Amino acid sequence: MIPFINVRAQREAYLKEFQQAENEVLDSGCFIGGPVVQALESSLAEFTGVKHAITCGSGTDALTIALLALGLKPGDEVIVPDFTFIAPAECVMRLGGIPKFADIDAETLQVSAESIESLIGEKTRGIIAVNLFGQCAPYAEIRKCALANGLWLIEDSAQAFGAMQNSIPACTFGDISITSFYPAKPLGCYGDGGALFTANDELAQRIRLISNHGSQTRYIHEICGMNSRLDAIQAAILRVKFRHFKDELKKRNENARKYNEFFRAIPGIVPQKIAEGNTSTYAQYTVLAEDRATFLKQLESAGVPYCIHYPMPLHTQPCFKELAQVCESLSASQDCASNATVACQKVVSLPMCAFTDVDEIIARLKKVM
Ligand SMILES: Cc1ncc(COP(=O)(O)O)c(C=O)c1O
Repeated sequence: MIPFINVRAQREAYLKEFQQAENEVLDSGCFIGGPVVQALESSLAEFTGVKHAITCGSGTDALTIALLALGLKPGDEVIVPDFTFIAPAECVMRLGGIPKFADIDAETLQVSAESIESLIGEKTRGIIAVNLFGQCAPYAEIRKCALANGLWLIEDSAQAFGAMQNSIPACTFGDISITSFYPAKPLGCYGDGGALFTANDELAQRIRLISNHGSQTRYIHEICGMNSRLDAIQAAILRVKFRHFKDELKKRNENARKYNEFFRAIPGIVPQKIAEGNTSTYAQYTVLAEDRATFLKQLESAGVPYCIHYPMPLHTQPCFKELAQVCESLSASQDCASNATVACQKVVSLPMCAFTDVDEIIARLKKVM
């Protein structure tokens, strides 16, 4: 059985390091925050070159904290991609904001700066750009658009910690950038975890305050915050994986290169385009299949697992339809022929991690395609 993501092989490869790091935390009696979390935050800041890296409970929490730190108010509009995981739009809604759904580029599948620009209105306060499947969104255009319109920018790099754009690392493009350490992510822990990045001292202070019950001094609560902190055991696991991260990124890219070479000879199946100047973490290796039903049958007969990231444009999700106010805001961007809608009908993600045996997968596919 080929796993979609082989977390077990990774565990076995670094087992001694994991066990030592895990035992150290369990024996220390310090389970939330503390020196291991601080050491991880320093490594994250050093890796990205961002002044402040602040860990928290999950990528979704990181988005919520970022929106709170930037002062989102009920009724504020925030532009999010129509084609991505639910979290950016969900977090805006949870805080009483209104997500406006921007279309994507048909080939890179990244949110389109042109579409963002077309959605800006009087109530628009900010943009959440997503680095989809491991590649950065087009930040030159998006940042220009944010700046020209006085909007803040959140970079959702849940899938792309470790990616580069024109030699600049991901997690450096937003007023606040975030990532996720969900187990399936390129740098994942053994539960939920996330981090925020900012160069701004004031925002960093607010982020720390919000994520720790609005408190800097024990039992003094300056604002109503939340409990969103990274467990020390997760930080210890991440520190082990971080030692091997660059190596794993190379292996992911090598696996993507093998897939690309194979699909080059297959008409009707086109991998997500990596735009010039970008490197990808390949959080997902995703192709667009003209005849998806046939391709899925071929994968099934070859015993190759797959996922559909994502089956429907976010603006059509039931959770957004129920809210009349949001439906109203959708009408401008709703378009049955949008690139997001077409992508949802064609996308297929294939097994991808540093331990995926892509040679075996290709050998199996050659027999059925
Ligand atoms: C683009 C994007 N943003 C945010 C998240 C949320 O991260 P988490 O699962 O850590 O809450 C995810 C998770 O898959 C994601 O893909």
